[in-house]
Amino acid sequence: MKTVINKNFLLAGIVMFVLAFVTMSFNNKFQEKKKPWVVPDASKKMKNPVKSDDGTIAAGKTLFMKHCKSCHGAKGLGDGPKSKELDTPCGDFSAKDVADQTDGELFYKIKEGRVDMPSFKKKITEDEEIWSIINFMRTLKK
Ligand code: HEC
Repeated sequence: MKTVINKNFLLAGIVMFVLAFVTMSFNNKFQEKKKPWVVPDASKKMKNPVKSDDGTIAAGKTLFMKHCKSCHGAKGLGDGPKSKELDTPCGDFSAKDVADQTDGELFYKIKEGRVDMPSFKKKITEDEEIWSIINFMRTLKK
């Protein structure tokens, strides 16, 4: 009888250990990886109507320095002074995962925002201005 109880305790111990380990590694994964930000297909496919040239890139740059630099940094590396106060990393606009996104995807994210990333729907009301910012963001690619 005694040995049976001990076995059960041992088993319960093992189960608890495994559960704790699984929970811990899950949490770590969660913190390491940014939460995926799903953009609706229709928005993804939106075409940038503002031609990328010196003029629109310069206009986008001015807007970026005014509205985005505080968090994203002048080069879009995610190292602006405000970034340290946020819970969410700002991302790196010179990186491949941003370069691989369509203009429509970036447009949607800038419009809608999410948690620490503000929505610019009301702050930048001209769509052309957001598209120009995207033209500028494309120059940040490594
Ligand atoms: C208050 C700080 C803050 C400001 C200001 C800000 N952002 Fe962000 N931005 C963030 C954070 C934090 C994230 C990451 C959000 C997330 O993943 O939930 C982000 C994410 C993004 C993304 C998505 C990047 C990706 O990896 O998919 C884009 C695009 C973006 N910002 C563009 C802009 C633009 C353009 C401006 C200015 C018009 C701007 N942001 C202003 C904090 C900011």
